[in-house]
Amino acid sequence: MRRRQFVRAGAGAAAIAVASGSASAQAQTIKVGMVATMSGGGASIGDLMDKAVRLYQKQHDKDLPSGVKVEVIRRDDGGANPDVAKRLATELVTRDRVSFLTGFIYTPNAMAVAELATEAKVPTVIMNAGTSVIVRRSPYFARTSFTMWQSAYPLAQWAAKQGLKRGYTAVSDYGPGHDIEAAFDKGFTEAGGQIIGKVRIPLTVVDFAPFMQRIKDEKPDVLCIFVPAGKVATAIMKAYIDLGLHTAGIKLVGPGDITPDEELPNMADVPSGIVTTMHHYSASSTRPQNVAFVKAWQAEYGAGSTPSFYSVGAWDAMAAIYHAIIQQGGKLDPDKTMALLKGWRNPDSPRGPMGIDAETRDIVQSVYLRRLDRVDGQLRNVEIESFGEVKDPWVRFNPPR
Ligand code: PHB
Repeated sequence: MRRRQFVRAGAGAAAIAVASGSASAQAQTIKVGMVATMSGGGASIGDLMDKAVRLYQKQHDKDLPSGVKVEVIRRDDGGANPDVAKRLATELVTRDRVSFLTGFIYTPNAMAVAELATEAKVPTVIMNAGTSVIVRRSPYFARTSFTMWQSAYPLAQWAAKQGLKRGYTAVSDYGPGHDIEAAFDKGFTEAGGQIIGKVRIPLTVVDFAPFMQRIKDEKPDVLCIFVPAGKVATAIMKAYIDLGLHTAGIKLVGPGDITPDEELPNMADVPSGIVTTMHHYSASSTRPQNVAFVKAWQAEYGAGSTPSFYSVGAWDAMAAIYHAIIQQGGKLDPDKTMALLKGWRNPDSPRGPMGIDAETRDIVQSVYLRRLDRVDGQLRNVEIESFGEVKDPWVRFNPPR
């Protein structure tokens, strides 16, 4: 009845479009629920992820099928708070009816939504959390970030081959830290080194000096550190320098989480050439796709803003989500979405070519050995060697049962 009235009234182009079921009449909004940290100690990480999401949408909304819009609904988990993350994700699924979940900086938060993703069949693209086992927890999980094993295992082998014999690990006492500890131990001992000590540091610790003093007294050749990036990376780096471990000849290595690009201006006391990290992304990389990415980023957010590895994890999560939406013409089926995510590749990621493994739903990418050096007076993660495209080595040592 209403249709007729509209047509009869001849109420202009908009009414006719509605009546005839044209593209605008079918306009639909696909909701993406993003659970990330926007307050507390990890807020700078959430901010750099969110900036990537906004920039991706600005550049790529034009690629969506006609009439399809993507709305990102953001929720702040406040840090590594699995109960909060689970509650927020549940609300996003049951109340907001999101078609995707994404975000998840911290491992416990990602783990906490596995059951929900499985039961509600919600494709969930992990933007950051790096503990290997996460993607096994739900068939609706895929990851666009990294795993800790991907960096720490080849890094340990490299360190041992440099003639560093006595190793020590100091890691945050939760999932990704435990993975770094195990991966570094395995890689280092397989390549002829020996681990002389290990310490796990509670996530609540902000003063790292006592830990550094103990390590200095034990005189390892090389110390591998992991903390979950952001401001805490600068705090532990400061303790390493203040306690004089570098002048005692203790080399510092770790995943790129300990030298996040955006924190480098706050690490001005670190001398060039003493910190070596393995990671998949450096803002200073000269790959054309990265140069274009950084240029667009700084045009949007100012020359003082630097994208970090979390930005690239978020960028590629959006690319994966847009791929699934575009391939289905906006009509989403969760199982088709997962089939489209499996084996998806992005040759143009700022980090270099990357993809999602068809079997494990986990990230496949190159990792780079980087030396923390001064370039034009500024500290940079300078890529010195590339280590092919690597799947997560953890899977090889822990095959699915
Ligand atoms: C994690 O909790 O999995 C995590 C958080 C921050 C990082 C790396 C891993 O930098």
